[in-house]
Amino acid sequence: PSGSTVFSMIQPSGKFHLGNYLGAISSWKALNDAKDNGGTLLFGTADLHAITTPKPSASTFRQMRKEAIASILSIGIDPKKAIVFHQSQVPQHTELHWYLSTITSMGYLNRMTQWKSKANVNANNRSEVGNVKLGLYSYPVLQAADILLYKATHVPVGEDQSQHLELTRELAEAFNKLYKAHYFPLPVTMMTPTKKVLNLLNPDKKMSKSDINQNSVIYINDEPDVIQRKIRKAVTDSISSEFKYDPVNRPGVSNLINIVSGIQKKSIADVESDISSFTSHKDLKDYVTEIIVEEFRGPRREFSRYINDPMYLEEVEASGAKRAIEIADKNLQSIKKYMGF
Ligand code: ADP
Ligand code: NA
Repeated sequence: PSGSTVFSMIQPSGKFHLGNYLGAISSWKALNDAKDNGGTLLFGTADLHAITTPKPSASTFRQMRKEAIASILSIGIDPKKAIVFHQSQVPQHTELHWYLSTITSMGYLNRMTQWKSKANVNANNRSEVGNVKLGLYSYPVLQAADILLYKATHVPVGEDQSQHLELTRELAEAFNKLYKAHYFPLPVTMMTPTKKVLNLLNPDKKMSKSDINQNSVIYINDEPDVIQRKIRKAVTDSISSEFKYDPVNRPGVSNLINIVSGIQKKSIADVESDISSFTSHKDLKDYVTEIIVEEFRGPRREFSRYINDPMYLEEVEASGAKRAIEIADKNLQSIKKYMGF
């Protein structure tokens, strides 16, 4: 809508997968398609966040950043409508992170769940916690800076991000109050309707770019035969009839139903009824395979087109960064003025 600023980022820690697609970037695409002349859309790669977890080599990282921009474009984001850029191209993000860190309490960050799972630590074990890096701990503060820097009003993300958005609103309010500034709007979380997409081989975990086993993740540029193989191997259960959504007792089957529901934008109940005649896991898996293959047909083709055109990708990044910096610089000057700089 006019007057709104939509902001969202994704880590360039690997090619985009089905979870990113259903949990985040398909809603970016919908916002892109619905854009009128009034609003602002910013879609970027959180490449500064990406270095808070095991760091790839410089050449791998360079490639991942490129793949992330190609992924964003391949799902149909139009870089003329949306500002597409890398977080690291805009130094104002890290500067605002510092200001916000001075009003963030350690207690609040201690309650966040992501650093504990990413660093794989037991929060009650002092020595394990003592090894957690400052950047990983401060991850949500940088995310708040990303969002507030553009005075974003709407942030489309998956459900795993809701805690971080709460912190963002807390910090916006704290800043406004402390500096008597009616400055930051409180950004609204636009939660995508699809539930978390799970790891195909270990449905206790979410599907994630950082997973080392590539068979547990479906990438947007996977070829049809690769998608078929991965879905065939997906962990389900031994009950081969009545495929019902039951995430507690049947997480694998429920994940497949959730995926279909997300792609087809149908309710879980409607998907259950569509598949009610299936009498084997093969029926279900063939059905799911076909739906994913079809959904990713366009993105797969576009991804290979973009990834083979590095000059174009560089152009998109450069012009996106220029537009982002214009907004970021102006806003940061106001922010600093409120603070007395
Ligand atoms: P990843 O965990 O794969 O590195 P990011 O942390 O970069 O992904 O998240 C980018 C966006 O994708 C966020 O909005 C997040 O909520 C969404 N997302 C990531 N993984 C999933 C998943 N398995 N299911 C649904 N949404 C997801
Ligand atoms: Na992540």
